[in-house]
Amino acid sequence: MRILVTGKNGQLGRSLHKLVSEKKYDNEFIFVGREELDLSSESGINHYFDNNDKFDIIINCAAYTQVDKAEQEAELANQINHLAVKQLASIANKQQAKLMHISTDYVFDGESDKPYKETDKTNPINVYGKTKLAGEKALQETMPTDAIIIRTSWMYSEYGNNFVSTMLRLGKERDELNVVSDQIGSPTYATDLASAILEIIKSKEFREENQTTQIYHYSNEGEINWYEFAKEIFKIAKVDCKVNPITTQQYPTPAKRPKNTLMNKDKIAEIFNLKIINWKKSLGGYFQSI
Ligand SMILES: NC(=O)c1ccc[n+]([C@@H]2O[C@H](COP(=O)([O-])OP(=O)(O)OC[C@H]3O[C@@H](n4cnc5c(N)ncnc54)[C@H](OP(=O)(O)O)[C@@H]3O)[C@@H](O)[C@H]2O)c1
Repeated sequence: MRILVTGKNGQLGRSLHKLVSEKKYDNEFIFVGREELDLSSESGINHYFDNNDKFDIIINCAAYTQVDKAEQEAELANQINHLAVKQLASIANKQQAKLMHISTDYVFDGESDKPYKETDKTNPINVYGKTKLAGEKALQETMPTDAIIIRTSWMYSEYGNNFVSTMLRLGKERDELNVVSDQIGSPTYATDLASAILEIIKSKEFREENQTTQIYHYSNEGEINWYEFAKEIFKIAKVDCKVNPITTQQYPTPAKRPKNTLMNKDKIAEIFNLKIINWKKSLGGYFQSI
């Protein structure tokens, strides 16, 4: 099997690459970044697929992920998160390949008081969320079967910039930090999602042909806010920095953030028989690996 992974330099792409290189797989994994496959260019995408052998599975980890900048770069974000996804879906159709696409908790408005299920109403409140939702919809229309969408949230990893690496950097520079305490969710350690992805692509449920395209939710288990997350990061890393809880209103950003994006993970856990690890345990695993 030839498996294409886009976004090779991103958090999830690199976490997948690490797991794939540590184990022996019968499949051939091809990791590409924007140098090989630029999702901002329709002709670039066609050129890449016209010049490579066909794939059996495409895992799309690439995305325009700069939530605040997207407010100013809506067209580019839409090209990468929506139009390119539609194009990948139509190429996957032609190649009779399966498509796995990664989406976000930001498709929700965050006003619910319960963890979001896959069937709950979407209503994104920022440009990034809108373009990701448009990508999900275009994928479902173009590929009514043989694809899956995994929505994830609050991702961190050993790679690139993320909340954990930013807290560790700021915590060493400052004595005190203000962190938002009225946005609730659950972090996702990218290695956990990468390992779930590798389990899913091996499964009979994923490999069976003509299955209706499905959406799944995946993050670590548990419920926290960013302030609690920062406190736990400093506790484990033994960083002496005081954390003060503040409200979203006290920390204005160009893009609005949803208040509660906790997701219900029962569907993915049950269908693919996955054990979802609690966020605190995963954070411990992250600190062991750095
Ligand atoms: N991070 C989170 O908290 C979070 C939360 C919810 C959902 N998600 C979703 O999870 C997935 C993976 O996220 P991540 O955190 O791994 O993202 P990331 O670290 O920002 O990686 C995204 C990758 O996409 C690549 N990319 C951007 N524009 C591209 C283009 N025009 N052509 C080709 N590649 C391009 C980037 O390439 P360069 O390295 O060259 O810039 C980057 O390597 C995304 O679908 C994201 O929407 C993430």
